[in-house]
Amino acid sequence: MPTLIIVGAQWGDEGKGKVVDHFAAHADVVARYQGGNNAGHTLVVGGERTVVHLIPAGVLHRGTTCILGNGVVIDPKVLCEEIEGLQEKGYLTDAGQLRIDERAHVILPVHCMLDRAREASLGERAIGTTGRGIGPCYEDKAARRGVRVVDMLDARYFRDALDKIMAERGPLLELYGEQPPEIDAILEEYAVYAERLRPYVTDTTILVSEQIAAGKRILFEGAQAAMLDLDHGTYPFVTSSNTVAGVVGSGAGVAPKHVGRVLGIAKAYTTRVGAGPFPTELEDDIGAKLRQVGGEFGATTGRPRRCGWFDAVVVKQAARLSGLSGIALTKLDVLSGIPTLKIATAYDCNGERFDRVPASVSALTQATPIYEELEGWTEDLSGARRFEELPVAARKYISRIEELTGAPVTLISVGAERDETILLRDPFLL
Ligand code: IMP
Repeated sequence: MPTLIIVGAQWGDEGKGKVVDHFAAHADVVARYQGGNNAGHTLVVGGERTVVHLIPAGVLHRGTTCILGNGVVIDPKVLCEEIEGLQEKGYLTDAGQLRIDERAHVILPVHCMLDRAREASLGERAIGTTGRGIGPCYEDKAARRGVRVVDMLDARYFRDALDKIMAERGPLLELYGEQPPEIDAILEEYAVYAERLRPYVTDTTILVSEQIAAGKRILFEGAQAAMLDLDHGTYPFVTSSNTVAGVVGSGAGVAPKHVGRVLGIAKAYTTRVGAGPFPTELEDDIGAKLRQVGGEFGATTGRPRRCGWFDAVVVKQAARLSGLSGIALTKLDVLSGIPTLKIATAYDCNGERFDRVPASVSALTQATPIYEELEGWTEDLSGARRFEELPVAARKYISRIEELTGAPVTLISVGAERDETILLRDPFLL
């Protein structure tokens, strides 16, 4: 079955963009199905960096159709800017390359204001959201008062919907000491975005099913990651959408029988942005080295990422939840020069051993990782293009990850450039 779902297996920022870009060359369609511009991919091609937040990372391949599915939340201002930025670089010159689902929900200024005001009011208890209005937008969707892309294109309907939203959300904003935005000003601003985006809007679920029927290769690009999933992640320190592979069904309108393989992306160590438990976090020199060598600063917010050892408990859980048929292990090169590497194989939570991620946030906060130590390596890995070219210690590290997580490593990334990649198996054929 020529569909492949790509999901994050940790807390996000695993390098999904690079892997999607890599496989997009062999895909006819790349579709996003959840999240919004809280995501951010830095793509490096021929030394040129391109950052995308909403448009799928496949956009740099001209023959690949990019879809923003119904499960995505869209900030139209950000999307218009992203389209223009890509066009200035010579990408996305054919309007047919991008398709936006008419049922995707729209992020409004009030959503961003609420997100930021809430976070500010929480002080030390803040979640550390990206402040992009993602949570409040999904809240309005679930409360059945949201504005969808199709509604934004209908000026009269949009005004009524906005009146309803502001009647609920305006007083809340005032409680946080914020002045609610003017409805007329929003309508005027969004009317411009609506006209710019109109040519791209369609029912993408039809396009996806036609492509599946035609046997085309479709890549579903997940955003965020397993531990940020609204149900299965480290709740409440999670994002506001489900991120596990099964969500492709609702977020892109794909029936389960069409879902094929799932590739999980995991860094060779672990990072997390925002607050919340992180058992293998390193607040020492090694953590600082990983941050500096790995360039661990958010593509979306620029925030420094928290860094730590590889956590096999987390990745094994992600493998179970999303049914990973393979793992793409990224940033292996960053570990060069660390004499002894550690992998967490279980946790000790107040004397109780956990081989899974506990649901209780307080148990997870107190979890002490049980580590296994492995020998490191000193060689620069960036030139390796075949598994056999990696140092023995690096190969042992990879094999141990496979044993502990139960998923084969099918791709290894040894640098940011497109070609700094070791492909072990075609993930469409896993
Ligand atoms: P939100 O998605 O902006 O509501 O943020 C909720 C949590 O998810 C915060 O801890 C964010 O840092 C985290 N988060 C959201 N998107 C990403 C991402 O693309 N990479 C990593 N963390 C993310």
